[in-house]
Amino acid sequence: MSKLITYEELKAHSNKDDLYMLFDGKVYDCTKFLDEHPGGDEVIIAEAGRDATEAFEDVGHSDEARAMLVDLLVGDFDKDSGLNMKSGSGSAQASRMAGAAVEQTSNLMYFVPLMALGAYFAWRYYTTGSV
Ligand code: HEM
Repeated sequence: MSKLITYEELKAHSNKDDLYMLFDGKVYDCTKFLDEHPGGDEVIIAEAGRDATEAFEDVGHSDEARAMLVDLLVGDFDKDSGLNMKSGSGSAQASRMAGAAVEQTSNLMYFVPLMALGAYFAWRYYTTGSV
């Protein structure tokens, strides 16, 4: 079984000389890789102690870049240890969800009166024989 890294541990390794990165539910030690990163060290340092999945994916990293992760793996992230996964995008996610809720409400707004209208005509049809 691979090692479980808690949020506390992830946070404890969030400086330039000792840096863990959380990506796709796994924790990677990027300390030695910082100087080699083609995208510079700042971008990785900025993701220290948080979920870098979205930042990493947004760049459209190559398969070679993904393959490099294998050598840096420390272990699995302990999802129950505190960090709300994808913390960087938490608010964006929340607003997307709010958007979906609004969309659902507006669908209902049309659906309910239409159903009522349909029911009314059905009732008329059955009681009077015409619409
Ligand atoms: C340990 C994790 C990472 C590895 C192994 C990695 C690896 C690489 C590699 C190999 C490239 C060259 C292009 C490619 O092959 O896709 C690259 C480019 C780049 N990476 Fe990463 N990367 C990591 C994390 C990140 C993170 C967290 C960010 C945050 C935004 C980032 C931002 C970038 C950017 C902006 C470039 C483009 C550089 C350019 O073309 O000028 N990388 N990365």
